Amino acid sequence: MERDRKELKYPSEKTDLGEIMTFEKRTAIDFVHVKPSVMKMVGISELTMSEHFKLYNGYVNKYNECMEKIAGLSNDGVKAGQITYSDIRSLKMGLSFGLGGMINHEVYFHNLGGSGGKPSGALLSQIEKDFGSYERFEAEFRGTAMAARGWAFLCYQYDLKRLIIVIGDDQSTFPPQNSKLLLACDVYEHAYYIDHKTARAAYLDAFFKNVDWTDVEGRLK
Ligand SMILES: [Fe+2]
Repeated sequence: MERDRKELKYPSEKTDLGEIMTFEKRTAIDFVHVKPSVMKMVGISELTMSEHFKLYNGYVNKYNECMEKIAGLSNDGVKAGQITYSDIRSLKMGLSFGLGGMINHEVYFHNLGGSGGKPSGALLSQIEKDFGSYERFEAEFRGTAMAARGWAFLCYQYDLKRLIIVIGDDQSTFPPQNSKLLLACDVYEHAYYIDHKTARAAYLDAFFKNVDWTDVEGRLK
């Protein structure tokens, strides 16, 4: 890790734009060891998770690559933005996608490996306040997940002071500004095709059997 950091540090050169920033490489979380329960789930197999971790690692690598290349651009390079094509546009688009793919998956994997059922405590109270009942929340979350092309997200939106369920149609479609992501459901086919073929609703049944509500509630604080 220390070696990686050294490799990715750039000269501390003083320029008219200030000091060139350094970049610290991000390492993929080893969920097999950090949260082994995600490898023993009902309806979401070890094989699905192993394949899914490969995709997650790819997003982490691309995040690192984009950050490294942005840090390596000259001052003229970072200023040379153009909407049809420019190095900075390509890198920023890639960065958004890679960063989204990385963080969305980290929240999703942390959200799994639990025993499902219903949440409790402050999270249940907030759900009941904002959706009327847990059952109504789950129905809306499932419907959103069926309608999404990439992700269904439950977030706490600080301006509205309430929970809201939104769609993420790709890795770089983020929850609204000033929102905290609490629960992420990956609905790309790679999340369920091995176990359920194209039956997304069956995958959602499995998803809710494996939600770690303690993790979700912990994000609300
Ligand atoms: Fe995924």
